[in-house]
Amino acid sequence: MAGEILRHWYHLPPFPGFPPDLSQYPDMQRIARTVQTSIGAKSLMAVTGIALLLFVLVHMLGNLQIFSEPEKINGYAHFLHSLGPGLWIARIGLLVIFVAHVWAAVRTSRASREARQVDYAYKKKDLATSYAARTMLMSGIIVALFLAYHLMHFTLGWVDFAGSHVGKLPLYTLQDGTEVPDVYTMVIQGFQHPLTAITYVIANLVLALHLSHGAASLFQTLGLRNRENAATFTKLGLAVGAIVAIGNCSMPLAILFGIVG
Ligand code: HEM
Repeated sequence: MAGEILRHWYHLPPFPGFPPDLSQYPDMQRIARTVQTSIGAKSLMAVTGIALLLFVLVHMLGNLQIFSEPEKINGYAHFLHSLGPGLWIARIGLLVIFVAHVWAAVRTSRASREARQVDYAYKKKDLATSYAARTMLMSGIIVALFLAYHLMHFTLGWVDFAGSHVGKLPLYTLQDGTEVPDVYTMVIQGFQHPLTAITYVIANLVLALHLSHGAASLFQTLGLRNRENAATFTKLGLAVGAIVAIGNCSMPLAILFGIVG
């Protein structure tokens, strides 16, 4: 469907094998039909949201090694890079999950707007929904923009306000004698620049806001949240948001204020 629209817009010739013919695979057809329904898209958003949340938490735990000696985070980055094809499978899996999450979010919000036919009699902010809930789409867009910047900053080395490490990352010698890119120095030099550190702090606060509602509401979508336990899940969402905010903001702030590095 999306492929058809893109082809139409850009006057592209038919792409061989796209969209794929699923007539031979009834199970795949059923899954494709289900995720296009409103509850299917919401469930897809919930399941992919859990995977992305797990990634954020694991990534944060790995990064917090910046508070230890350079050997730790450099050894960890070397371990990840040494996974070779395994790392690429994980990266592609993560990208697919991320795209599915964005697709489901756009579909869900469009479906709820269409179902509403007439606009709210009250402004959205008058309704008994939290600020995080009302701003999910906007916070999601900001996180996606941050992610693009973050990848260009640390993974691709294309942008850095300090201009310190772009294309000339120093090498670090691990205790076993292996020479590896010095991720420790890259992160320290990156966050010593106030604009970079502040950008990361703001983006991670927005991410925490997004996760605080997302983590609480996915249980509702999965049918686990009810009137009795709703308050517990709301608190769980707030706890997840607080953990991500404290963990991810502690790094740029500690480096900016010279506590680390
Ligand atoms: C202060 C917070 C963060 C720090 C210090 C940080 C640090 C890093 C570093 C150093 C890398 C490059 C690793 C390497 O190539 O060896 C990286 C990659 C990455 N980060 Fe972060 N990150 C932070 C927050 C986030 C957040 C909030 C997200 C997601 C929303 C995220 C998603 C990613 C992704 C997808 C990659 C690419 C992984 C890969 O190359 O396979 N990061 N991060």
